[in-house]
Amino acid sequence: MGWSTWNNFGPMINETLIKRTMHFLETSGLHAAGYIYLSLDDGWQHHKGPRSLYPLEPDPSKFPSGMKALADYAHERGFKLGIYSGPGEETCAGYTGSAGHEREDARMFAEWGIDHLKYDACCSHGDAPQAEVMDVMLDMSLALLSTNASIVYHACHCGWSQIWEWALEIGANHWRIGQDISDDFNYPGNREKYYFDVLDMLDRGNEVAGFSKPGGWNDYDMLIVGLDGESGQLVGGGASDVEYRTHFSLWCLVNSPLFIGADVEKLDAYDLETLTNGEMIAVNQDAKGEQVTLQWSSEDGELQIYARTLADESLAVALLNRGSETAYITVDMRRDLTVPWDVYRLRDLWKHRDLGPYDIPFTAEVRSHEAKVYRVWKVECRVGC
Ligand code: DGJ
Repeated sequence: MGWSTWNNFGPMINETLIKRTMHFLETSGLHAAGYIYLSLDDGWQHHKGPRSLYPLEPDPSKFPSGMKALADYAHERGFKLGIYSGPGEETCAGYTGSAGHEREDARMFAEWGIDHLKYDACCSHGDAPQAEVMDVMLDMSLALLSTNASIVYHACHCGWSQIWEWALEIGANHWRIGQDISDDFNYPGNREKYYFDVLDMLDRGNEVAGFSKPGGWNDYDMLIVGLDGESGQLVGGGASDVEYRTHFSLWCLVNSPLFIGADVEKLDAYDLETLTNGEMIAVNQDAKGEQVTLQWSSEDGELQIYARTLADESLAVALLNRGSETAYITVDMRRDLTVPWDVYRLRDLWKHRDLGPYDIPFTAEVRSHEAKVYRVWKVECRVGC
């Protein structure tokens, strides 16, 4: 969990922004809620152009104190610092990459005290054969391991390859399952134009759910909560409060890394309430690490039920309305969730309210683009036992 520079700021980053963001994460309660990684994406590097011509070093006009000083500053405040590079001669935004210098760069990152690396092959190896992508990702993984530093490894290939099939094997801790997210809940046609909206990402995730587990996670891309159609980098016209909340719920349920993509200083009270919901975050961080799977879908695909088991044997259940009208969704424990529970109780994770016990199917009113999320426990017997 953390914050990433890319969605809102693109390459327009500098150490003042990073420090201000840390300060706001602290004062807003986001740090306390778990957002501790500050991930510098593309644009921290000094040079644009191929690595065979330029060294990899921080841009002194953006990071005059250097990366070690910034990492120290972060660590002193209970944060962790992430950095970005890629296996190409150049990165997506045209900055110098790590091609041929993996060991040297990994050592440099470790010496700076870096805690997380996003290694981005999206552009340099877009349609390269899968074996080649695997090789270059493995090179950096081994380089990181050789430093003995504890660095989380994000292997990013934007859904070009079947990366989820082998990413855990080569030591990646998370991997993007799709193209860049757009700042849209549902915008027909996005996917063809190389952008995924929230529902596109959810559907892609349904295809690859089994690959995500403790140690290595399907990454649904950075959060769009609070971008409000004003992102500096992403396409998309923004989403409503309820859509951003549904997006956050889904990212929690599928165990995606939670990296805030907005300018945190512009988040309003509703966004902050969304992002700091401890009961939702507990699902995202649950030790069992199971990703939700689709349990039921209406014939037209507009109403869906998702569920997963949590470490305490309770269920996390989402009732999702993808349609444009308010609808009622009924969930029957035996039929829809295949648990032999005759009596159960629920907790609404957005209203923070306990419900039940019930011994009949549960029905909820779900607004357009809303996800109602519950935690459900088996109750041994309703009365007198
Ligand atoms: C492509 C990735 O998908 C984005 O998240 C971002 O890292 C850019 N590259 C940076 O150039």
